[in-house]
Amino acid sequence: MTTETTTGVSDKQAKNPYIQVEQVLAQFTVPQLQCETDTGIETIPLAEEVSFGSWQPEIPEEYWQLDAETLNTRIRAARERLGDQVVILGHHYQREDIVQFADTRGDSFALAQYAAEHPESPYIIFCGVHFMAEAADILAQPNQTVILPNMEAGCSMADMAAAPDVYSAWRELEDLFGSTEDIIPVTYMNSAASLKAFCGENGGVVCTSSNATQVLEWAFQQGKRVFFFPDQHLGRNTGHAMDIPLDEMVLWDWRLGPGNLGGRTPEELEHSRIILWQGHCSVHQRFSLTQIEQARQQFPGVQIVVHPESRYEVVQAADANGSTAFIAKYVAEAAPGSIIGIGTEINLVSRLAKENPDKTIFCLDPVVCPCSTMYRVHPAYLAWIMESLERGEVVNQLRVDDNIKANARIALERMLALK
Ligand code: 13P
Ligand code: SF4
Repeated sequence: MTTETTTGVSDKQAKNPYIQVEQVLAQFTVPQLQCETDTGIETIPLAEEVSFGSWQPEIPEEYWQLDAETLNTRIRAARERLGDQVVILGHHYQREDIVQFADTRGDSFALAQYAAEHPESPYIIFCGVHFMAEAADILAQPNQTVILPNMEAGCSMADMAAAPDVYSAWRELEDLFGSTEDIIPVTYMNSAASLKAFCGENGGVVCTSSNATQVLEWAFQQGKRVFFFPDQHLGRNTGHAMDIPLDEMVLWDWRLGPGNLGGRTPEELEHSRIILWQGHCSVHQRFSLTQIEQARQQFPGVQIVVHPESRYEVVQAADANGSTAFIAKYVAEAAPGSIIGIGTEINLVSRLAKENPDKTIFCLDPVVCPCSTMYRVHPAYLAWIMESLERGEVVNQLRVDDNIKANARIALERMLALK
């Protein structure tokens, strides 16, 4: 039996923050401000996932039909038996059914740092996406093995910067300026290991959303111009925060192919301080100025916090922006009763709503906004790789080629050295 509280919220509802959020939002009659997944993201057997067909197919059939309870029991048991042999890292965008097993969770910077500072665990199970696990492997000790539960967990933004396209753009810039000595390549963490190596080799560095300003400040001490890839939005938002005029940040359209100067004139490039790769995150591109305007109209006093992978105008209209760790801290530190609209991935937003029942937390995107590649780390994959490990079988080791590793490490260590 359920009873009503003084606020009109039933016992059952009071225990479920997702329902609470829905109820508060319903009072304002703005259903377009709710994410469908505010009701929670349930675990379903792997075979019932609509996209399973495009996920890593090697997972044995015995894992396909397992329900949430069986998977949880098996993972927990494997975890216990493996003990100190493994450490499980979980990015903030991982599903609830994965995050529950993480020994530590964080943004991409914190997880890379964790991997670099914990040489004691022989196996690092990285619940996140490909580029993050690669970074862990680059920074880990030679005796450590990094495992990505589902090898198909990539990142569409990272895929927008293919190494041959970046090398070709670099050669065009070299031809135009006569040398690349004064151009510092900066790659966002969300990129292939080969591009981190390219930066290491060419006096450049890696950045994440939590240190992009410090990294760009460092870069401008080394050279006159920055070549920033793959996320145009993080580059532009950071440059703007450093008072670089918008017309000095030019977009390089790699889709035009070699010989086209990325669609820019030589004069525009001469005038530029940051050359931005035309890449973006499909999840964060969904956030719009209209969503923020609607939220402000409906919830006077609402605070808006977004990830800096969002468009320039969205970041400008928000009250704050920062990495996933920043957003989590922002919500945790907000006063009880705060209403906060968030522009980032839904798994993190839903978790923050659950962890902060004294606040109203909602996602700015009216439609579902999960990162589909992060979502590919289904518990069935975690069970598979952990039970394999128990049998002494390493499945899904993420191994960066030694030739790439050395230079990529230089670029990552330059970043880690910046405080
Ligand atoms: P963070 O570094 O803020 O965790 O972001 C990683 C990411 O992929 C955001 O889309
Ligand atoms: Fe890549 Fe965007 Fe997913 Fe982050 S949220 S991993 S940038 S696709």
